Amino acid sequence: ESYERGEHRHFMIKEIREQPAAVARALTGRLDTRFHTAHLGGLNLDPREARAVRRVKIIGCGSAYYAGQIGAQLIEELTRIPADAEPASEFRYRNPVVSPDTLYVAVSQSGETYDTLTAVQELQRKGGRVLGLVNVVGSAIARQCDGGIYLHAGPEQSVASTKAYTSMTVAFALLALYLGRIRDLSPDAGRRIANGLKALPGQIERILAQEDRIKEVAGALAEYRSAFFVGRVRGYPVAREGAQKLKEISYIHAEAYPGSELKHGPLALICPERPTVAIVPDDELLAKNLTTLGEIRARHGRILAVAHTAPGPALADDVILVPKNEPELDPILLSVPLQLLAYHAALALGHDIDKPRNLAKSVTVE
Ligand code: AGP
Repeated sequence: ESYERGEHRHFMIKEIREQPAAVARALTGRLDTRFHTAHLGGLNLDPREARAVRRVKIIGCGSAYYAGQIGAQLIEELTRIPADAEPASEFRYRNPVVSPDTLYVAVSQSGETYDTLTAVQELQRKGGRVLGLVNVVGSAIARQCDGGIYLHAGPEQSVASTKAYTSMTVAFALLALYLGRIRDLSPDAGRRIANGLKALPGQIERILAQEDRIKEVAGALAEYRSAFFVGRVRGYPVAREGAQKLKEISYIHAEAYPGSELKHGPLALICPERPTVAIVPDDELLAKNLTTLGEIRARHGRILAVAHTAPGPALADDVILVPKNEPELDPILLSVPLQLLAYHAALALGHDIDKPRNLAKSVTVE
């Protein structure tokens, strides 16, 4: 085991640090510089069929579901096809309407998650066509799906998913680019997204270079029993995944909610004992997010902003700066410092990071 971890203390940190290479692999051979689109050989979906898609429904569990939420937003933004994500574990129990003009996408690192696999089987029984975004080649979900995209993230050992999650979001961006370019997405917009994708590995390196600084902030976070994560629209699934990572390995209670929902309930719990990690991209919702920070500060809540530009000491106690990409792709980068934050908080608390209590890497039972 220590050989495989090499110089890294845990598989989780090894896999976090492998992300520039994992993302580069996910992109290799898949970007078409002539037509500014994506080549996805395994989709098994010809352009005529792809143009007939009227809805996209993504299913997955846990972090794969949160990656699916990012994917749904990417697809809807770049293709203007309505898209949404739902936990596979819920989907399979509610007798969903399965429609022939909906494209179903199942997302899974292991390819063995029972809830996702049985949801795929139920979809297919009712005539649904299901693509798989899967990491493990030849796994049950990969074999069951009608086509798909392999993530090529490499083996992931840590129970807390990091590089596979990031590779899922990249695969969704490729799928969105492909679907967009055979519909309304212009060549210029396609070039913009393709260039953004190419910049990701270098930008992830720049985030990883801030590990010492993130470790300091994580040490402070580890002093608390409970934390909030907030984000709006593109930042919301990022906040959900950030809370998930923190819960899984540090056992600090963490809850994510949209910044816009603050006034509708969670504000009652803001106090000095409960810090907030705020996702603050420099996008069209920046002003709204800054207002949210002001509302939290007015209740004496501590704030760690994960942002493109520092909101200033009046609005945030600490800031982790993240390089800016294209707005649609920014969630991919904003998630990375939250992995380091969870890792170093768990390390400060002395937990068994690669084998968190009560969790298995792959849930192959109901
Ligand atoms: C991730 O950190 C979790 N351990 C968990 O939520 C995981 O993403 C989920 O169980 C789905 O697994 P899969 O991607 O292998 O299907």
